[in-house]
Amino acid sequence: MKKATLCLSIIILIFASCSKDSGPYIVKPPPPPPPEKPVLVSFSKEIQPIFDNHCVSCHNENHSLLNLKPCCSWYELLATGHNVPYLDSINPDESKLLKRITGAVMPIMPPTGNPLAQEDIDLIKKWIGEGARNN
Ligand code: HEC
Repeated sequence: MKKATLCLSIIILIFASCSKDSGPYIVKPPPPPPPEKPVLVSFSKEIQPIFDNHCVSCHNENHSLLNLKPCCSWYELLATGHNVPYLDSINPDESKLLKRITGAVMPIMPPTGNPLAQEDIDLIKKWIGEGARNN
């Protein structure tokens, strides 16, 4: 009798330890990350505000060479340059605009007050290198 009880409990134990077979455990690989889009500098959101804050007090419709107000800045920078292009996307350092804000050609712009912050200069240079888009 004792033996039978022991046998029974062992059988119960064996069955109890069997869990439901849930099939092969498949680990789904994570979805591939979306292709990285190049983040372009935005002329309207990042460059024009620099002109608005530091340049348009002089460079407006009354300036004889360059109007940097939102209406006109991109067109004037692209269309003119008075013999030397304002913008050179192949070699941004050669851009007249960049040379004036770094002081490579004097007088540095803006001629009064503090020069532009280095990050603003870098941003303008990057924008020129990306093709000086009107974006
Ligand atoms: C206080 C007035 C004043 C401010 C502010 C100013 N400029 Fe000028 N800028 C001038 C004057 C005046 C000239 C023309 C004389 C000269 O070339 O130095 C000029 C000339 C320039 C030229 C050369 C134009 C050409 O065809 O030769 C560029 C480029 C220029 N500025 C860019 C800027 C930028 C960009 C800013 C803002 C970061 C700025 N300037 C801020 C007064 C100013």
